[in-house]
Amino acid sequence: MLGDPEMISFAGGNPAAEGYPLEDIIRLSDKVLREKGAKIAQYGSTDGLQEFRESALQYLIKPRGVEAAVENTLTLTGSSQGFDLMARVLLDPGDTVLCDGATFVGALQAYHMAEANVVGVEMDDDGVIPEDLEEKIVRCRPKFFYTIPTFQNPTGKTIPAARRQKIAELAAKYDMFVLEDDPYCDLRFRGETVPPIKTFDRADKVVLFNSFSKILIPGLRLGVAVGPEELLKRMSLAKQAAIAFSNTLGEAIADAYLREGLLPAQIARISPIYGRRCDRLAAGVDRFFPKGTKYVMPDGGMFLWAELPGDPQNYDLTELRMKALKEIKVGFIDGNEMSAIPGKFRNCIRLNFTREPFERIDEGLERLGAFLKIHTGVSQ
Ligand SMILES: Cc1ncc(COP(=O)(O)O)c(C=O)c1O
Repeated sequence: MLGDPEMISFAGGNPAAEGYPLEDIIRLSDKVLREKGAKIAQYGSTDGLQEFRESALQYLIKPRGVEAAVENTLTLTGSSQGFDLMARVLLDPGDTVLCDGATFVGALQAYHMAEANVVGVEMDDDGVIPEDLEEKIVRCRPKFFYTIPTFQNPTGKTIPAARRQKIAELAAKYDMFVLEDDPYCDLRFRGETVPPIKTFDRADKVVLFNSFSKILIPGLRLGVAVGPEELLKRMSLAKQAAIAFSNTLGEAIADAYLREGLLPAQIARISPIYGRRCDRLAAGVDRFFPKGTKYVMPDGGMFLWAELPGDPQNYDLTELRMKALKEIKVGFIDGNEMSAIPGKFRNCIRLNFTREPFERIDEGLERLGAFLKIHTGVSQ
């Protein structure tokens, strides 16, 4: 349905197409194929292209304060692959995974496919609440805790440093792995950088995933895991059985991109665009959505999470989502889709602010606001 040009989508996690550095990618594809064509064309190693893993460490991971060696890295075919690999090596049917109360659907799918019992941790404006996390660790004995600490999908919230430290301490205290999924951290358009949970990880229990999808292009299907060597070895074996190795051409392009030092300028180019679109979207929600709609203003990333007023149980946004697509041609994701706490987010809407330009943001929110007022009974 998104192929329809009239459709205004706040639904996906799509980067702005005008932000793609296509000219650089065309030039670097040519360069790496000419310089290393035979190597790139050949079957590669399951762990990933050595040069790429080194440059990911040097240009992406270490600048964020994470100390790691190449043996602590594994190339992922998009960080999505990592959810599946973690599930394969750590989960048996019936095992528990803890995650943020509302979380990324793709990861939920991987855990459900593994027949895991997924339990959501309560969140406030600063993301997951450590006291609730500890209570659930003690009660559920999870195999791991999956969290998206920065500009969270779907809520846009960021966990502050003190809580991150606490999460790392809980991982050590209860001998539990933490999967820190951080694809949005570089897309900051205001406020101060917060160190990854991995920087507080004295017990080597945290696996950090970063992705090239949101900062470069999703089509490369490239991510990197940084974590305990033993665990990554097991994930690498599972990866070998699944796809043998990742897209070596993509790794070589990303490697050249990083080594030419192009990433900071790319991030500096796209983040302010996203910041302006975020502000525009927030202004539209204030103007057109039912009175009493709340949200935490994101400092980066791609999503704003709108909480409609009143009792969540009075809403059925899953049904309204389909109706909105057909009748007003506006797409959004409803809270039910992303909920790991049954019934909790029935009144919530995730709005992506990176895909649509200003005029379409305004137009889409005007249509959606009027639609919500009619169909939810919140007339103000
Ligand atoms: C939190 C989160 N993790 C991972 C991904 C998937 O990223 P990739 O394209 O690297 O598989 C997404 C994509 O939307 C996401 O929102």
